[in-house]
Amino acid sequence: MKPELIVALDVPDGAAAVAAVEKLPPEVLFVKVGLELFIAEGPDVLKPIAALGKKIFLDLKLHDIPRTVERAVQAAAKYNVFMLTLHAAGGRAMLRAAAEAARAFGPAAPKLVAVTVLTSLDQSDLNDLGVQRTPAQQVLALGELAVGSGMDGLVCSAQEVGAMRQKLGPLPLLVTPGIRLPSDAVGDQKRVATPASAVRDGASFLVVGRPILEAADPVAAARAVLADMQKA
Ligand code: C5P
Repeated sequence: MKPELIVALDVPDGAAAVAAVEKLPPEVLFVKVGLELFIAEGPDVLKPIAALGKKIFLDLKLHDIPRTVERAVQAAAKYNVFMLTLHAAGGRAMLRAAAEAARAFGPAAPKLVAVTVLTSLDQSDLNDLGVQRTPAQQVLALGELAVGSGMDGLVCSAQEVGAMRQKLGPLPLLVTPGIRLPSDAVGDQKRVATPASAVRDGASFLVVGRPILEAADPVAAARAVLADMQKA
């Protein structure tokens, strides 16, 4: 599968989401709906976005007991979302229950991708949680747990994606945020990679928000990211 761009709809309400999607070029096939938009508007927000022809990555980072996550995956699959996130830290039984729930939807099942360690956490945060591994060790350990428990892939930073691809082989989907063109403002992203370098390192999907949504010309900005991906 060729690497794809996902535009993050980090906007507060449905009207802003639809306006943002309408500004994207037709080559952008995937958009991400996260907690802010989904909680503000509820699942109805997904309908106009799907009606504009975009596939939806629902980034809700599920983390609960296995039965609850199993039911939540079933509910999300009924919205025909393309991909859904969970926390690997929910553990093996939760991940397996989620994978089982998705499998029942056959070819229409959402891809399940696991978050390992939030990039907002550092060593001292992990220590507070009783984790003695380094963040890099914990990312790899939870990544292997998630893929070994039936996840289709992982969310991983541009810093992690190369090591993950080497460790996990060609099959798992690797979804990578923190992407910037050399000409972009970095914003609050601390460690960024260009689209071409993330693709070279093995990313399957690049998640890009502000550099496209806040651009004076979002069509040109999206096309610049797609063009850079082609250089990989
Ligand atoms: O605007 P920007 O391109 O930085 O947006 C990136 C998207 O990826 C946002 O939706 C953000 O929440 C998400 N993300 C991230 N860094 C992570 C994990 C997720 O930027 N480590």
